[in-house]
Amino acid sequence: MNPKRIPIIAGNWKMNKTTGEAKDLAAKLAPLVTGVKDREIVLGPPFTALHAVASAVKGTNISLAAQNMHWEDKGAFTGEISAEMLLDSGCKYVIIGHSERRQYFGETDETVNKKMKQALKKGLFPIMCVGETLTEREAGKLNEIISRQVSGGRKEIAADDMKKVVIAYEPVWAIGTGKTATPEQAQEVHALIRQKVKELYTGGIAEGLRIQYGGSVTPDNVSSLMAKPDIDGALVGGASLKPESFAALVNFK
Ligand code: PGA
Repeated sequence: MNPKRIPIIAGNWKMNKTTGEAKDLAAKLAPLVTGVKDREIVLGPPFTALHAVASAVKGTNISLAAQNMHWEDKGAFTGEISAEMLLDSGCKYVIIGHSERRQYFGETDETVNKKMKQALKKGLFPIMCVGETLTEREAGKLNEIISRQVSGGRKEIAADDMKKVVIAYEPVWAIGTGKTATPEQAQEVHALIRQKVKELYTGGIAEGLRIQYGGSVTPDNVSSLMAKPDIDGALVGGASLKPESFAALVNFK
């Protein structure tokens, strides 16, 4: 953590929770995190529950993220969701390029970049995910992969817009596996990401950039991760699905 950057703790619910379950989770969470002002709290329900969660968190310190979006304004793109629809559903953030989308749904740096540009143009704040697979790490390609994903994803994004971007470092081998990167491993890559952004932007953009860690974050390991100087938050899957554990993450010491 760095006092200049407000920590951002976001829950990525993935393909979990019906509308009723989502409303219930949000309603139970809200009182557990009231009064938290020094960190940002974000929930990422599935599309179908966005509206319901938006009303459940209205007037609280919790904001809303979508898990994906399309890069076009509107039209014949069956099954897709536009930025405008997300805004209309109460979203402030949108998660872009999650490794599950890259792995199972053919997302590339190019599609990530198109979505990033569209999100920013429409007024959404993107959370852009990057991360290497175990094979890539073991082949010594960590640096290359992370640099390529960072620079490809933010291609043609102006400095002013870059200020609105959050990057999430999520090593693919740590997602949903219970294998968290050690705080040292995470810090090393966070510093690398910040350095890469520093090469691409001047004017304090890299210093202001918030970089979340994601991959088996739990109430037990969050504090040691957040103690590292370049870790500015967490993107949490499994442990965000229960109000008590997500509240414990938000309230890390
Ligand atoms: P996990 O998921 O916390 O369940 O590992 C993190 C993510 O994919 O965002």
